[in-house]
Amino acid sequence: MQLYDAIFIRKSVRSFESAPLDQSVLDGLVDFLSELEAPQGEIDWDFDILSYDDITPILAGPPKLLAPHFLVLRSQKVKGCLQNCGWLGEMAVLWLTAQGVGTCWQGGLECQHDFDGVLPYIVAIGFGRPAEPMRACAEDFDRKALGRLALGDTKGPLRPLLEAARLAPSSMGMQPIRYIVAGNRIHLYRKKPLLPMPQLSYSQCIDAGAAAAHLCAAGKAQGYDVLLERLEPAPEYKKNMLYQMTARCIRSEG
Ligand SMILES: Cc1cc2nc3c(=O)[nH]c(=O)nc-3n(C[C@H](O)[C@H](O)[C@H](O)COP(=O)(O)O)c2cc1C
Repeated sequence: MQLYDAIFIRKSVRSFESAPLDQSVLDGLVDFLSELEAPQGEIDWDFDILSYDDITPILAGPPKLLAPHFLVLRSQKVKGCLQNCGWLGEMAVLWLTAQGVGTCWQGGLECQHDFDGVLPYIVAIGFGRPAEPMRACAEDFDRKALGRLALGDTKGPLRPLLEAARLAPSSMGMQPIRYIVAGNRIHLYRKKPLLPMPQLSYSQCIDAGAAAAHLCAAGKAQGYDVLLERLEPAPEYKKNMLYQMTARCIRSEG
């Protein structure tokens, strides 16, 4: 199964079989992640794959999600690091989904006692063999219509990429990411929360990266190289729409 196909069956899984995954799957995930180039390649990042028992001591309390494994994403804390980790984590989610593994982003975990000498904790994703069915197809998703999320040439050749981004996970299912299609570019914005809520803003920057991962996976399947960049100056939209990044979609050769 390709990453693109995984988009249509993925869901946030909240009940898992307790048995650990085969070591070959964990090794495959390490290889997959190690070869990824993050959208902002200059930001240093890293990851750990920890068991439930190994992640618990670094957290303020044990995870409510009883997953046998947790992918911990770490990064230098600079502008763009959350979007980077959202992209990296969602690429891992799609890869795991394609292997039949269930996943659930864990935006609510608080890291309190981290290991020595590691990059700062950003976010974690629980994963393992699902004890509940995955989705069957795109119709199984309860999502806002594309017309509420995207403006510009949304009926043109980039539509499948937008449809894939629409199905991306988002913290509390709020779908805060908006898209403006301008030629071969898709600008991504994050709708500012009505009240200043730092934890929600933090998670929604991760949402932007996850949506961008779906754009990339769909773009590849549709014959595009999708380059993610942060334009300076940022293309302005509305006061309450915070610019996140731009996906430049270039037809692949051959
Ligand atoms: C950054 C981020 C953080 C999330 N945090 C949590 C969480 O702490 N607990 C949880 O159960 N689900 C969490 N989710 C999953 C969302 O609730 C879920 O993506 C959304 O409700 C849509 O459902 P779906 O993923 O099944 O399509 C998170 C998702 C994202 C992208």
